Amino acid sequence: MRIVGFTGMVFDPGARILPVCFSASLTIRVIRYDCLMNHAAPESAALETLFADFDPARHPVIARSTQGLIVRVSGMQQDLAVKIPSGSGPTRWLFTTALRREYRAYQRVAGIDGFAHCFGLFQGHYLALEYLHARPLKHADPPDRQHFFRRLLRQIERMHARGVAHGDLKSRQNVMVSADGDPIIIDLGTAVVRRSGWHPINQRLFNYMCRIDRNSWIKLKYGGYDNIDAADRHLLDRSLIERVNRRIRRR
Ligand SMILES: Nc1ncnc2c1ncn2[C@@H]1O[C@H](COP(=O)(O)OP(=O)(O)O)[C@@H](O)[C@H]1O
Ligand SMILES: [Mg+2]
Repeated sequence: MRIVGFTGMVFDPGARILPVCFSASLTIRVIRYDCLMNHAAPESAALETLFADFDPARHPVIARSTQGLIVRVSGMQQDLAVKIPSGSGPTRWLFTTALRREYRAYQRVAGIDGFAHCFGLFQGHYLALEYLHARPLKHADPPDRQHFFRRLLRQIERMHARGVAHGDLKSRQNVMVSADGDPIIIDLGTAVVRRSGWHPINQRLFNYMCRIDRNSWIKLKYGGYDNIDAADRHLLDRSLIERVNRRIRRR
């Protein structure tokens, strides 16, 4: 949102504060105003109506986690998976923030094959995604594994090129197998979105998460880190944290 024309204060180096009327336009990005707005494309007027008085309890549950609930909303020419944060107070705030981060990540990957279409974030806390006729990799075997993993790697590389690192691809619940046997990446709730400009911490974290994503691809494809084909070995670069984590889990 942009506000044009603003009456404000300027801090004077001589420790005086002067009220100044800016004649020039001043553009301010009001980031926190996000919370109150619907983040939807203009074509989604019907969805805005749908979410204006949305009652999740009226819809079948697809999945439930500590972070929230996913319900299926079908009919009225829609077939959606809607993610809703759970809890109350600080917990709900935390989960809502994660959902907003997920929404920003979906915006960045829009148009790349192998991601659900995102219709928007409504009322600040209903993330509306295309319902996928697909099964999690945990419960499905891709008919052509070579094709599946080649395609998945391409999707990961494209996602990174758009400035999104997933961070939770080791979970076989977060990669779906479509009816055609193609991969679909879901759950961008832990994603790190790379910021442009000078943001060294964000950019280091982004690079680190990209590394984790490549290691995750190896883990998904080979079920571990042994007996990796020579052609794929260059992708593996496990961090100390990953090694220690694995050791602890093995005990
Ligand atoms: N768009 C979708 N269409 C169909 N099923 C979905 C969709 N998104 C998620 N699911 C199902 O819900 C499960 C949990 O979704 P996920 O986004 O990973 O949520 P969580 O943040 O709870 O891990 C997935 O493993 C999948 O089975
Ligand atoms: Mg998940």
